[in-house]
Amino acid sequence: MSLDALAERTLRANWRTGVRRGVPYAYTVPATPRYRHMWHWDSCFHAIAWCRYDRGRARAELRTVLRSGDPDGFLPHTVFWDAPAGWRRAPFYATERSWGSWRTTTIDPPLLPLAWEHVARASAEEDPGFATEALPALAAHLDWLQARRSVRDDGLLTIVLPDESGLDDAPAYDPVFGPHVHYRPGYFRLVRRWQRLGWDAHRIAATTDRHCVDVLVTTAYALSLHAMARLSGEARWATRAARVEQALCEQCLDPATGLFLHLAGRARTPVRVSTWAALAPLALPGVPLDVRRRLVEEHLLDPRRYRAAVGIPSVSMDEPSFLPGFDRWRTWRGPSWVNTAWWLVPALRDLGHGAEADRIVTGLTEAALRDGLREYYDPRDGRGLAARGFGWSCLLAGLVEVPSAA
Ligand code: GLC
Repeated sequence: MSLDALAERTLRANWRTGVRRGVPYAYTVPATPRYRHMWHWDSCFHAIAWCRYDRGRARAELRTVLRSGDPDGFLPHTVFWDAPAGWRRAPFYATERSWGSWRTTTIDPPLLPLAWEHVARASAEEDPGFATEALPALAAHLDWLQARRSVRDDGLLTIVLPDESGLDDAPAYDPVFGPHVHYRPGYFRLVRRWQRLGWDAHRIAATTDRHCVDVLVTTAYALSLHAMARLSGEARWATRAARVEQALCEQCLDPATGLFLHLAGRARTPVRVSTWAALAPLALPGVPLDVRRRLVEEHLLDPRRYRAAVGIPSVSMDEPSFLPGFDRWRTWRGPSWVNTAWWLVPALRDLGHGAEADRIVTGLTEAALRDGLREYYDPRDGRGLAARGFGWSCLLAGLVEVPSAA
């Protein structure tokens, strides 16, 4: 079976539609049986992947993401469209009530405007109005993030739980959240504490140290601001994106290593753990070329760090916390994920490393054709691990460069 056939089959198998209290929904579940709900960044990736097979579904999925939010621009991390989370997993979700909430009060990397632009381009002929139909709602979302999560109004976004980054158990959050990290019992205490503080990031950031400025979430925000500038034709979004890029370079960029580091607590202490989030700003056009080159040459292509046999590991291989195999409870501590390649491979190509980009895509493709579209892969040998039929792994098909006829 070809990679495209595999991806299309996976997306079709994971597609869900229905109506919740009069509100219609249509989206792709990440994977059954483990991930049966709608996750914000997964759905953005799914919509991008759907563009190759069914653009109507791509548009429907993004409209559903938008429908899960509030008029003020808040968009939740997870939405339980069809049924609330089961009792075993419910405590892991940061909901308003411990039971019966239909969505979380937390955020996920804000990729909706970026995905919207991608889908709008692909839909230009069949649904030309799609590009502009949601501009006010997308603007409200970007404004919500700035007002509620840029706690110092500098464009850097703060997260209050590790999973708000999408990288739930990444070792960079160990020093920030301590006994409250995602995989420890203290996590549930922190959720209750934030419930009491009304999930207000300004209050949390002003009175505690269990939060950080997150590089991946901030990079997603900047990418979405750039997308919004192109979708709306309004220069003010590009100005805002540039401000965020500048703040990342001024505050998160570590001159000693060239990595972009999360900033922990009120003191904004740089977190010196190298995870792929530290490389994510490579995708930003406003980050100076020499900074991007350094990320590639000293990290992404270093065989001791991120140049693994298969894919791009989620943690630098020279970190003591690097854990490349399967772990039921701890994700993002080493394995290679397809969305990471999707994020970094185009930047690698832009910087003239086409052969390396192809090597990464080929390695993951071989693994996917052998073991299926899995949640992640062992970076040492490409063994497919964790969930099967994983939605965003379908992004891989769009990364394969078709050789030109010339
Ligand atoms: C895991 C991942 C997270 C993803 C979710 C649904 O929790 O860590 O990034 O959004 O699964 O696939």
